Amino acid sequence: MRVIVAATGGVAAIKTPALLRRLVEAGHEVRAAATDDALKFVTKLSLAVAAGSPVLDREAWFAPEGGALHIEWARWAEALLIAPATADALGSAATGRADDVISALILAGVPQVVWAPAMNSAMWTHPAVQRNVVTLKGFGHRFLGPEHGTLAAQGEGQGVGRMLEPEVLAARLPAALAPQDWAGRRVLVSAGPTREYLDPVRFLSNPSSGKMGYAVAEAARDRGASVTLVSGPTALADPHGVSVIRVESAQEMLAALRQPFAEADLLVMTAAVADWQAAQPEATKQAKLGKTQVLQLIRTPDILETLAAEKRQQVMIGFAMETHEGVPKAADKARRKRLELICLNYPTRSGSAFGGDDNEVTLVTAAGAAEALPRMSKRALAELLLDRAKELLPPIAGGAAQGVSFTT
Ligand code: C5P
Repeated sequence: MRVIVAATGGVAAIKTPALLRRLVEAGHEVRAAATDDALKFVTKLSLAVAAGSPVLDREAWFAPEGGALHIEWARWAEALLIAPATADALGSAATGRADDVISALILAGVPQVVWAPAMNSAMWTHPAVQRNVVTLKGFGHRFLGPEHGTLAAQGEGQGVGRMLEPEVLAARLPAALAPQDWAGRRVLVSAGPTREYLDPVRFLSNPSSGKMGYAVAEAARDRGASVTLVSGPTALADPHGVSVIRVESAQEMLAALRQPFAEADLLVMTAAVADWQAAQPEATKQAKLGKTQVLQLIRTPDILETLAAEKRQQVMIGFAMETHEGVPKAADKARRKRLELICLNYPTRSGSAFGGDDNEVTLVTAAGAAEALPRMSKRALAELLLDRAKELLPPIAGGAAQGVSFTT
């Protein structure tokens, strides 16, 4: 993506070169712009070196050969990220001024605007600033931060107003620019394996990484949904902005899903639920006596089948692994579990096994219609499933929500 990173006059402007570098590392094309006050904190040279191109500042803007640089830059850019953004910069943009390069870029029509504010808490919470934030959100601008933390001015201590760190801003920028077509919807996702304990230290499980479910949860969050992720044990960190419930057994997963399911618009059940649990788990560690051991197992609850009995408005998507006769078996599961779609994959094929970053699935409906999708990243598959699920949902009452979000 082509991004202009614009610094305004706050001490956090010393972090803007690092932000530029992070964005370049993430594969973006960047340019840097700065107000006069920003250049009191950070040099033009360090911005130019980090961006790899000349900086748009007042001097360049008003140079005889400058021309209408704000128009030219606004046409080039896909997004403008203002970091740090001062209260003054917010005020200028909210009132439609064009007295510095940044407000001029905004009026010149840069397609997407993201603000990363940095200021003292009293200023950030002042009604005048908050009113400007509301106005800018009404224009479709997005906000990343500010966060709670140590503030720059001496003696200020902790408060809300700290700019997000460059690596966090770079990581969250794509989400801030995503369409908010799931705003106002609730998405429930299950992920990872379950563990069925035989005794306190031994369990039955499988190698599910949870990556598919986490990708669905993150994609839905980025598109504006309110997301609950019920996760079995995984090595993955809780995604920010998602309500995460950690569970171990199939029984616990069912219990955790029940209440959010009642209110969900979409359930995506990616969890690799263990099929068997011990008939009578032992309360104490069992000694390894003898050469053989007989375990009595009973079936775990079928979570989807149980929830299907309570299904009302929810669109339900499941996953199935088969080694042969996949489509008829998956269609049968879709019917039994009342799923709109089931993603069928063949774990024995290369690239489709547990734990990878990609997935190759065939979408199967209860009627047996099958659509083989190419191999793609789990995130891309997550986006595609959200696109398909959206078509199956009734429109949100009152129309689609405004494409604005506030992320800290
Ligand atoms: O029948 P099978 O286990 O192949 O079905 C797979 C789908 O059913 C997956 O979406 C999985 O999360 C779900 N499932 C479940 N409860 C189980 C086993 C699987 O909800 N006990």
